[in-house]
Amino acid sequence: MTIHIKNASVMFGGVQPVQALKDVSLQVEPGEWVNILGPSGSGKTTLLNVIAGLEQLHSGTITVDGTDINKKTSTEKQHYKRTVTGYIFQDYRLFDQFTVMENVMLPQWPYEHHKKLEKRAEELLEHLDMSHRKHALPEQLSGGERQRTAIARALLGKPSILLCDEPTGNLDEENRENILHILYDLQKNEGITIILVTHDPEVAKWGDHNMYIRDGSFQGAISV
Ligand SMILES: Nc1ncnc2c1ncn2[C@@H]1O[C@H](COP(=O)(O)OP(=O)(O)O)[C@@H](O)[C@H]1O
Ligand SMILES: [Mg+2]
Repeated sequence: MTIHIKNASVMFGGVQPVQALKDVSLQVEPGEWVNILGPSGSGKTTLLNVIAGLEQLHSGTITVDGTDINKKTSTEKQHYKRTVTGYIFQDYRLFDQFTVMENVMLPQWPYEHHKKLEKRAEELLEHLDMSHRKHALPEQLSGGERQRTAIARALLGKPSILLCDEPTGNLDEENRENILHILYDLQKNEGITIILVTHDPEVAKWGDHNMYIRDGSFQGAISV
């Protein structure tokens, strides 16, 4: 699915209003891997949230597959979030009180037949080399295992776009490489579009393009 962001601006109100994105334009073709680089507070997470349909634009448009996602009804938006995008985070965001299997299944639980979900969750965990840990709790896992659980959860709704916010920021080098290989495999073999936020020049060596953002504005493409 083509992502087309045109002159997007996002404002946050309050005592000190912030313009988190200023006139940002970006086009991402289906199956591309784009890295977003930039200092802390530059608007990287806000940009991912815009694509995820979690943040409303103040001005500008974002279309995915030709449809303006900010014009969707709440039901359509919920469907978009659940089936078009998957999201992974630096801090994994797993529920401590649930097992690996339960964490993977939770976001789709109300919407799909339980047996079908269970089968797909098992396949994903097998593919991500996590089957042997499926009954473990998050606190019993290494960082790499937690992120692999989070990836399985993000993939359960068969998204075409995977949004990754500093996905290897808490991992050592070996686990970082492992996660990057998984993302590479998803891009090459499943055709999944990857948009990845990073500070790490080693991570930015992966993927097709690097975009640099500062103070909410794109500074253009950079090579590392
Ligand atoms: N919910 C919010 N309310 C107010 N300001 C916010 C909110 N979210 C982010 N900001 C501000 O918007 C700017 C961009 O934030 P963010 O997108 O999280 O940056 P990054 O991910 O690059 O560190 C920062 O100045 C941040 O403080
Ligand atoms: Mg951020």
